This record gives sequence, C-alpha cells and structure tokens, in this order.
Amino acid sequence: MSSAAPHAILLADYKPFPYLLGHVDLHFALHPTQTRVKARLAFAPNPAAEPGQDLRLDGEQLVLKSLALNGSPLGLQPDATGLTIPFADLPKGAFTLETEVEISPQTNTSLDGLYMSNGMYCTQCEAQGFRKITFYPDRPDVMARFDVTMETDLPVQLSNGNPTGPGAWHDPWPKPAYLFALVAGDLVAHSDSFTTMSGRSVALNIYVRPGDAHKCAYAMDSLIRSMKWDEQVYGREYDLDIFNIVAVDDFNMGAMENKGLNIFNSKLVLATAETATDDDYARIEAVIAHEYFHNWSGNRITCRDWFQLCLKEGLTVYRDQQFSGDMRGHAVKRIDDVLTLRARQFREDQGPLAHPVRPESYMEINNFYTATIYEKGAEVIGMLKLLVGDDAYAKALDLYFTRHDGQAATIEDWLRVFEDTTGRDLTQFKRWYTEAGTPRLKVTDDFKDGTYTLHFEQENRATPGQPWKGPKVLPIAVGLLFGDDETHSPTTVLEMTETRQSFQFKGLAHRPCPSILRGFSAPVVLDHPQQYPQHDFLLAHDTDPFNKWEAGRAFAKDQLARMTAGAELSPAWAKALARVVLDAGLDPAFRALCLRLPSDDDMAQTLHDAGQTPDPDRIYAARRAMGDALAAHMEPHLPGLVADMANPGPFTPDAKAAGRRALGNAALALLTRVDHGAAAQMAYATADNMTDTVGALSCLLDIGAGEAEAALFAERWSGDANVMDKWFALRIGLATPGKAVAVAQELTAHPLFNWKNPNRFRALIGTLAGHHAGFHAANGAGYAFVAEWLLRMDQLNPQTAARLSTGFETWPRYSAGRQALIRAELRRIQATPGLSRNLGEMVGRMLDS
Ligand code: TRP
Ligand code: ZN
Repeated sequence: MSSAAPHAILLADYKPFPYLLGHVDLHFALHPTQTRVKARLAFAPNPAAEPGQDLRLDGEQLVLKSLALNGSPLGLQPDATGLTIPFADLPKGAFTLETEVEISPQTNTSLDGLYMSNGMYCTQCEAQGFRKITFYPDRPDVMARFDVTMETDLPVQLSNGNPTGPGAWHDPWPKPAYLFALVAGDLVAHSDSFTTMSGRSVALNIYVRPGDAHKCAYAMDSLIRSMKWDEQVYGREYDLDIFNIVAVDDFNMGAMENKGLNIFNSKLVLATAETATDDDYARIEAVIAHEYFHNWSGNRITCRDWFQLCLKEGLTVYRDQQFSGDMRGHAVKRIDDVLTLRARQFREDQGPLAHPVRPESYMEINNFYTATIYEKGAEVIGMLKLLVGDDAYAKALDLYFTRHDGQAATIEDWLRVFEDTTGRDLTQFKRWYTEAGTPRLKVTDDFKDGTYTLHFEQENRATPGQPWKGPKVLPIAVGLLFGDDETHSPTTVLEMTETRQSFQFKGLAHRPCPSILRGFSAPVVLDHPQQYPQHDFLLAHDTDPFNKWEAGRAFAKDQLARMTAGAELSPAWAKALARVVLDAGLDPAFRALCLRLPSDDDMAQTLHDAGQTPDPDRIYAARRAMGDALAAHMEPHLPGLVADMANPGPFTPDAKAAGRRALGNAALALLTRVDHGAAAQMAYATADNMTDTVGALSCLLDIGAGEAEAALFAERWSGDANVMDKWFALRIGLATPGKAVAVAQELTAHPLFNWKNPNRFRALIGTLAGHHAGFHAANGAGYAFVAEWLLRMDQLNPQTAARLSTGFETWPRYSAGRQALIRAELRRIQATPGLSRNLGEMVGRMLDS
C-alpha cells in the first residue's frame, strides 16, 4: 500500500522469527477517528532462531502514543513500516512489551485493518492488515493466545474465541495475527446451535443489520451442514463454544475465516427467494463451507509463510468442492468447477501473470490470492487423491491433521504426509507446486491386431521467469467406447510421467472411441484430433458425465473457430446438442450446462492457443449466430421445454429445483430469440423468485428489449444493494459490443453508483472488463475507461484496484493495434504518481512479459 520503492520478498530468504510470542492482550477504545489500541505482548527468545537479533515489529499508519518494555517507557520512534527494538535494549530472557497507538477506522478506505462499514467497526487482517492495528510481528508463523476487550456504546461486540464478559473475549487456540477479528455494531443475530460429534453444544450466530435477520436461514443451514460434513468426511470437530458470522457490505473479497468469527461479504450471507438467484445460493453454501473448513485447514494448521498460501487455500477449496458435490451432485459440480478453472486459472496461467501454485517471490502478497493458488491448488490435490486412491488420501489427511496440529506448515510437510502414508516418491509430482503454466497434452492413437494404443505427448511451455520445465505427473482417466451398444470399458487411470508415453489396450475386437481425461482428471489443455462425428458420438454415448458435456463443448468450440474464419455452422451441431438437451432421462442441471455456449473469452483463449489472433467482434458475432441457429433448430420444442421445467409449489433453493430453473431459463433465452420476447415478458411479470426474474430480464436485454422491465426492476430494488449489483452487471454485461462502454459510462453517473463499495465497483467496472467484445472495442475506449477507474479506486482501495487490473492480463492474445492500446494504458497507470504497491506490481508484471 505504501508507495515506497517496492522490493521482492523471497521464499529462499525465510528465517524463523527470533522471538516467541506466548500471549497477547489487546484493548480497544473504539472511536471513528481516534481509536486507541493498547497491546501487551509477552515475548521470549526463540531457541530455534539465531540469537542476538533485534526485535522488529510491523506497523503502518499507526500513531504511537506510548511504548514500554517490562513496565519502563522506551523512547523509540517507529519508521514508515514498523518499529525496531535493538537487541541491546532487550532483557536476556522473557519480556513484556506494551504499546498504545491511535488509529482512524472511519478514514480507512482500504478495507484492510480496522475500518468502518455503515457505522459498524470491523477488521480484515489477512494477509497483512493487523499491522495497521498495532505494532506486531505480522507473519503467520508467529502464533499467540489472544485476550481482547473493547469499549464502545455499540451493543454487539465480538472477537475471536469464547466470550468472557461484555466486550471481552479469550481465544484458547494460538493463532497468527491474520486470523484476528473484531466487530462492533448495531447488529441483530440469527441464532441456532450445533451439537458436535463428542456431544459439545456450540452456539451459532449470524450477525446482520437490523432488517436483514430474515435473510440468514440458508447461510445458517449451510453452516450446520458444513459442520456435520467435516465431522463425517474428515473427522474434524469444531473446537470453541461459539461460532459467529458477521455480514459486511464493504468487503474486498468473499469472506474471511477468522478464528470463531468469520466475516463475510453480505452478498455471501443474505438470501431470500425474492433477492437471491440459485447461483447466489450455491455460492453462499460453498463459501460458508469454505470458511468453516478453514477452522482445520488454515487455522489449526496454518501456513509457515505466505508462499505456502495454497497449503490452506488449495486444500480448503478442494474440501468445499467435495462438500458442494455431495450436496448438489458431483457431475454438475465438476463441470462448473472446470468452467471456472478454465475461465480464470487457465487464463492467468497462459498470460503475463502466470505463477506457480507455490510462488517463490512476491512484492505484494495480496496480489497472490489468485485462481492459481486457489483453483489450481485444489486441482493438484484432486490429482494427488486420484493417484494414491481414496483410502490412502484419508489416511494421509488424518496424519496431516494430527502431525501438524497447532503448527505453521509448508508444502513440503503436506507432501511428506502422503509420502509417509503411501511410500510414494512425490519429487516429480511436486513440480505441480513449483512450476507455472498449463501443460498441453497431445493425443494420437492407432489400432493394429486387436491392440489399441494411445500416444501422449506433454508440452510444458515457458512462463515468466521459468523458461524450462520438466514433464509433470499426469493422471489421465480413460475409458474406451465401442459402438452404440453400451459395452464400454470402465475408467482406467493412466499415469503419465514422461514427455512422450504410450499406453496399450490389448485383445480388442474393434477400434474403440476413446474418452480421454474423464472427470477432467488433470488440469491440462487437451489437444486431440477428434472432431465430428466422434464429438457427436461421445456427446450421445459417453458414460462419464464430464466428458459427455466436454464433447458438446469441444464440438461447439470447433464450430465457433470455423465460423470466425468465415465458415457456415454445421447443422450436425444443433442436432447433436438438441438430442441431449431434450433427453428427459438426463438431469436438467446437466442439460442446462450443455446449452451454455463457450464464452467469448474462452474462444479468444482457444484461438490464441491455436496460433491465431482472436477478433473480438467476429467471436461475438459467431456466438450470436450459433445461438440463433440453435434457437431456430429447437423452436418447436422450446415452449414445451420451458413449461415442463416449471417447478410445482413454492420456491425451494435445492439443487433439483435449481436445475429445472436453469434449464427452463436457458430454453427461455433461446425462445426469446425466435418469439421476440413475448414469453420472456410473461415470465418476467409472473416470476416469484430472483432466479426467474433475472432469467427473464436477461432474455429481454439480450435481444435489445426489456427497457421497461429494467426500469421496474431498478425501482423495486433500489434499497437492496446486493440486488442492485445484479442490475448494474446485467445492464452492462448484456449491452451490445458497440454500446457497452457507453452504457457503463452512463451508469457511472447513476445515483446508486457508489463506487467506493467494492461490490458495486466490480458490478460496473468489473463487468465491463469482462464484456469481451465491449472491453476490447477497437478504438480503445474500453481500455481507457477501465484504466481511469482503476486509478481512481487505487487511491482509496489498492487491493480492489489491483484485483480488477487482471482485466488487462490477456493483452498478448490480441492484434498489434489492441496490444499497443492496452500497453499504453498500462504505462499510463504505471507512470501515475502515488501508485500503490498493489497496482504497481500488477501493472509491472503485465508490462514486463
Ligand atoms: N482467506 C480468505 C479465504 O479465502 C481470503 C480473504 C478474505 C482475503 N479477505 C481477504 C485475502 C483480504 C486477502 C485479503 O477464505
Ligand atoms: Zn480460503
């Protein structure tokens, strides 16, 4: 956040902190602009560290009011980033340091450290926010027991651990500072309780603003199911008497796993049928689970240093994905997760911001809360589980949780539990953690004398700072299909370790059709010569649901690629797809996913990968034409499909009902292309839940209609920030490429465009950056608009500005003209005086490549 010359922090430089911190007492006298924080830190020399070192405490934007060592005042002054107490001033053994600082939460617009949101005090300390609260060794391997007290007139006063009195909290579990949290506000609770597997009762509360208590039932239900699931599947029990969640409107990310006091972006807590879509419900369930699961994978076992971030994030994402799969169905969940992985992580891995799952250097750690750390981190665990098997995975996880409980661990520790339980050497597998980039996997095959051979070749391309990479261990799940008679071989997992490797299947009567990379068994770009009619065949016959969907996807992408080069769409595509979509024997949620066309960004990435220069307008036009052709082909079936998918009875948010709404709305979108909005208008008027409301409104905006409905929507929901975010995003996301920038520009003047709120900023600026053809308008207006707003946001909230700057990460894909326009904007940002370290690092990395 400081604009001082940034320098790189290196994994290789890790050294243990020279002092152990046993206990921390904190007292907060809360005031909007003059909060006083008193800290008493009980230190002792760390026998595992080099002796004779100074005590360095981190501290930023703190006004030091007093400082005492073992009760005697010390006359030291802090510098811009902390305070050093020279070794010569320190007593020989244990000692106590007392500080008092003044801070101003009201004017803290970074939403990092202690800040205010709608009159409520709250904190965000991960990764390095605690140093804006008090002088402290703000690093995850320094763990201490905390006692917290606070003074304020506000009625609800929360911190970590168990309550010991009004505004007083004791956390018995040693924790790093990034897990500290404090909340004080005029809040109401939605309460429940949970009895753990050993019979202890835990009080559960979700705190929200008065008036929102009726929107917490789904989050609470998700929490209770998460607690149960972690006991049943991982044997992990909750370890405090109370578990609190607080919803905040102004928040930089999704949510935060502070010990016993999770803090959430309000959009990931509040839900009613009227205000939340099915996607919102699914996100809420997943993120509530994610933060809860961190209690073990993150809090009981934390990270030694921030290079190990994937240790907690990859594992916790993997666990929340398993949970959501158990709750909602694994096939659909896997397809959803792969869509996200490709859209965000593959995109990152193939551009200038590519970095390993465990990076080796950073300037600003907040820039590394990325899809690579999270999503690829989870994929790596999925591969590990596939390679060692379910039983060994369970044993390894038990060992991990017992061996490292209470520790700050590393990726080496994590891999060692797998080596110790299975006897496997994971040296080569570790490349998944240390080498960036998405492997390309090329497949060819042959059939001779009853032997079918699959030949694989993996390519590991250079990424920034990593010109050379070794071959990865790839678990390749394969099934062979033989004609329409459904006598297919079961799935086998081939283990590829070489650059080139072949696998034989003997004694076959006919040449099979291979189904490769079932379940997306490794995060690679698969390149195989298969096309129509194999796509058609696999789409109809593959018994692996992921690959069945993938065949339709590959078919569509192949067609789109041809169309952008001027070819006509093959009628075979719509026919093949319609057969699956109309198959009443298949899960509606799955059919809805099959109907989703590849995104423009996905196509741009695919074309770039194939050595072409993507043209955003052509991609957009091809996708529109493809949708129109599908609508025309399916026209006679669409009204019936829409009607069939109507759910009987009142709204329920479960996966089954949501799947029917997803298919119904996807069918309605096609119908709208042929009936000019008649059905969608009816649907809008009669919708009784937000999914159908947004579904119908999207259909209308998509064909350039729906002005009246959009106005009604804005009037109805002007008082609900989470709903209005959807409105801003829809208006921009569904504008035509030629209009997107103008629409976004116009909406920045809307009275509800409260740009300082990260959700609203993302809804407007983030949506434009994600409108592929709009953002990439040939005149550069989209680039200039986003750059302008990033600079504005950077002055207040560098984390959010830096995060949204990834809109530019794909610049190397495009034409020389567009590249020049983007680089000019990036250079303009870079040259701006007072630029944050956050945005500065991002822009620097994008320009350097
Ligand atoms: N640890 C959080 C999670 O993944 C992420 C997070 C929340 C975060 N808020 C943050 C990371 C602020 C950096 C900065 O669950
Ligand atoms: Zn997390």
